[in-house]
Amino acid sequence: MTSQTFPATRLRRNRFDDATRRLVAEHSLSADDLIWPIFIREGSGTSEIATMPGVLRAGLEGLAGHVEGAARLRIPAIALFPVTPPEKKDAAGTEALNPENLMCRAARLLKREFPDIVLLGDVALDPYTDHGHDGVLEDDYVANDASVDILVRQAVNQAEAGIDIISPSDMMDGRIGAIRSGLDQSGFVNTRLMSYAAKYASAFYGPFRDAIGSSGALRGSKKTYQMDPANSDEALREVAMDIAEGADMVMVKPGMPYLDIIRRVKERFAMPVFAYQVSGEYAMIAAAARNGWLDEDKAMLESLMAFKRAGCSGVLTYYAVRAAKLLEARK
Ligand code: PBG
Repeated sequence: MTSQTFPATRLRRNRFDDATRRLVAEHSLSADDLIWPIFIREGSGTSEIATMPGVLRAGLEGLAGHVEGAARLRIPAIALFPVTPPEKKDAAGTEALNPENLMCRAARLLKREFPDIVLLGDVALDPYTDHGHDGVLEDDYVANDASVDILVRQAVNQAEAGIDIISPSDMMDGRIGAIRSGLDQSGFVNTRLMSYAAKYASAFYGPFRDAIGSSGALRGSKKTYQMDPANSDEALREVAMDIAEGADMVMVKPGMPYLDIIRRVKERFAMPVFAYQVSGEYAMIAAAARNGWLDEDKAMLESLMAFKRAGCSGVLTYYAVRAAKLLEARK
């Protein structure tokens, strides 16, 4: 190795002009890297989410129109999040098992209209429980095994409706293995599993809970199942178990505050790793931009590139459509 010393070496040379910068770029971002999470509600029209400016809840009747742009931009995947009417919520999250629930009707509609887009179905009970937890309660504790039994049935219900990638976000122990065998027994051997493998108990989910209407309901915190932000080795154990149980892809959530976890997971397991740039991360950029404090497009694209650099195969981001549009315009 030649010694890299100044003045023979000037690292600024490779930054001299745009063409050279493009030639030496180590990572790139394209629409192929994006998964778009969308909120679905009953009826027609859209409604705004106060804490996520620029993000809408789309009524089922207008859903095809809402998704058309994403399809045209060749965004490969959409993640569905239903806003369950309060009268359909109960302690056991029964609506999650209804083949006619909002998620299933939306999945059937989207598979028919946009067969080339893969659909992610969030598996967890919080959109359906009146207490806002991801599982069922026994003595105010989220019971692991009883919750897993329901989650398996929820996953099969979603697969039957056409969901391509089951994404368990509940953080119960053993759910990946149980869901894999439940899917296989029902003949869904090719339904993929993207586990929210390392999901932290985070303040950054606040706006999402507003969006699906679970924030007012949530009793206590999710700290007995979601991870402690102080831990990193534990994330590797979570990921190892999910892979052993049959996860095809793993996710780290939230995104930006946990880039170190993404990097460790990628280096250790060499698996497809995804990040969820969650609602609070979106809200921070969107709010700063609305105050004129940040350039929203530049800040957002930079944040997405950071995920690629950290080792992600792709990112779930509320900015997916906006990012894909900008990337297309640059071509
Ligand atoms: C719930 C779920 C949450 C998110 C996705 N699935 C919230 C939570 O765990 O309370 C958060 C997504 C976001 O904040 O954008 N199972």
